[in-house]
Amino acid sequence: MNLNCALIFGTDTGNTEEMAEKIADAFVQHGLSLELINVSDCSVEQIETFDFIIMGIPTWDFGGIQEDWEEFEQDILRCQLKEKTVALYGMGDQLGYGDYFVDAMGWLYERVAKSGARVIGAWPTEGYDFAASLAVNEDNSLFCGLAIDDDQQFDLTDERIERWVLQLLAELNEIEAA
Ligand SMILES: Cc1cc2nc3c(=O)[nH]c(=O)nc-3n(C[C@H](O)[C@H](O)[C@H](O)COP(=O)(O)O)c2cc1C
Repeated sequence: MNLNCALIFGTDTGNTEEMAEKIADAFVQHGLSLELINVSDCSVEQIETFDFIIMGIPTWDFGGIQEDWEEFEQDILRCQLKEKTVALYGMGDQLGYGDYFVDAMGWLYERVAKSGARVIGAWPTEGYDFAASLAVNEDNSLFCGLAIDDDQQFDLTDERIERWVLQLLAELNEIEAA
């Protein structure tokens, strides 16, 4: 696959960046390299140079948006994402914040979808235990991207990333073949 790929993350305490590195390592194993960019150093013009963009966001303070992503909101809405494919991952804690689990990923989904992106990488909610999330579909069966709970389910993180990356590669191949 000949795609220009990036992973843009925001983080307060480093977890989302750590996952970015794991996701990038998994892609490299399959021959695709991702440019890692902190959203606080990112511009609209830069985003528009990529074909495939993964975005990582943690949820803070009862459904709050990580602050660098929040500051970037107008830029996401300004981005021309119509020809782009986007995948999202969200970091959260389903036991500590089960009424707001990975809410910020749902916030980001709404905005990239509004900017015209094709969003891939929906992920089953099976295997998680939470009361509510703004990142799920109507029947609560799918998250809009990969939910990573490295606080409560760290033992599942590597396997989830591995499976999600394979899923993304399959979805990208399908798009390319269409
Ligand atoms: C004070 C505090 C508030 C949090 N609020 C939420 C929340 O509302 N929803 C959620 O799913 N996770 C919540 N979390 C969990 C974080 O999203 C999680 O620890 C994440 O991995 C942090 O990512 P970062 O290190 O990249 O900032 C919270 C954690 C703390 C310490």
